[in-house]
Amino acid sequence: MATSHPALARAQTFCDRFGLRVPILQAPMAGASAPTLSIAVANAGGLGACGALLMKPADIAQWASTVRVASNGGFNLNLWIPDPPPRRDSAHESAVRDFLEQWGPEVPASAGDATPPDFAAQCEALLEAGPRVISSVMGLYPPEFVARLKARGIAWFANVSTVAEARAAEAAGADVVVAQGMEAGGHRGCFDAATAERELVGLFALVPAVADAVRIPVVATGGIADARGVAAALVLGASAAQIGSAFLRCPEARLHPAWADALARTPPEGTMLSRVFSGRAGRSITTAYVRAATAPGAPLPAPYPVQRSLTQAMRDAATKAGDGERMQLWAGQGAALGRTQPAEAMVRELWDGAQALLS
Ligand SMILES: Cc1cc2nc3c(=O)[nH]c(=O)nc-3n(C[C@H](O)[C@H](O)[C@H](O)COP(=O)(O)O)c2cc1C
Repeated sequence: MATSHPALARAQTFCDRFGLRVPILQAPMAGASAPTLSIAVANAGGLGACGALLMKPADIAQWASTVRVASNGGFNLNLWIPDPPPRRDSAHESAVRDFLEQWGPEVPASAGDATPPDFAAQCEALLEAGPRVISSVMGLYPPEFVARLKARGIAWFANVSTVAEARAAEAAGADVVVAQGMEAGGHRGCFDAATAERELVGLFALVPAVADAVRIPVVATGGIADARGVAAALVLGASAAQIGSAFLRCPEARLHPAWADALARTPPEGTMLSRVFSGRAGRSITTAYVRAATAPGAPLPAPYPVQRSLTQAMRDAATKAGDGERMQLWAGQGAALGRTQPAEAMVRELWDGAQALLS
């Protein structure tokens, strides 16, 4: 790596510390973490990742061993820090169910009762899998868990979406903060779900502000999809770039073709932030369902994770039918910027291009 630019030297230090050849990280993406994609990213010298939110301990172990067998690179296992239990309101849920029945199959009254996998058991599975990096989103790991990570030499990357969250993560012992701009696809990682729409910080303002506020390395994520974005993130103070939506277009991501095609043709203004899929704010393509569910008169979404359970039947039916207008098409604002190509080629193109811009 040419280290003429100070940003490149910073990236090199990061790579040396975390055993990478290139400072490109695959974003952890729950429900879209095909091992094949992480294998390809890790083999290209970057960091693979798994969003384990919805996975049982045995599935986490299986994912880790599949990636290990096919790659000598590193990977990151990621969990959501659970929110307090939602306040249930059966009359309101009934209104949401009625609304959803215009978009998919009947939604039974019990649908909202589904419980997420056990967080403590998932944490044990993460430690057991022994990845190079464990990351958090929506909050911070409890001190006892952080101590166990440190004892095993596993680095903790904490996703943050504000300067205050970055300071809190550093104080709690995070080794790296991943600064998530509001451009990001998927859920916003705000520690307090209520602030998601109020504290929308773009990556251009967030990265330098976070880099000034903390001493630990900063990774930039949100809307980065080509070499220009990677170079800009490094110049702004990041040590590496984390990419989600653009990697979803790689064949190794094994994404539903309706979703992959939609990513390739969606301009930045074709995505929006809403709670209509899960009850937590997330950025998706502005499909017919998203438009209708956010229109005046539509019932407000139920809280997370109740809304996620209520929309499950519609999402499953839409996926089966290949109907993108009712599918959950998470997408960042930069999704269409990149090219549809194998992940190894994408990593190479991103990094060669960024170095050329900075040399
Ligand atoms: C489909 C999808 C699922 C995601 N799931 C997670 C997750 O489980 N954990 C997490 O920390 N971030 C998750 N994210 C957010 C990413 O980590 C990252 O912030 C985002 O992809 C960056 O923006 P970009 O998509 O524009 O590259 C998800 C993003 C997408 C697109």
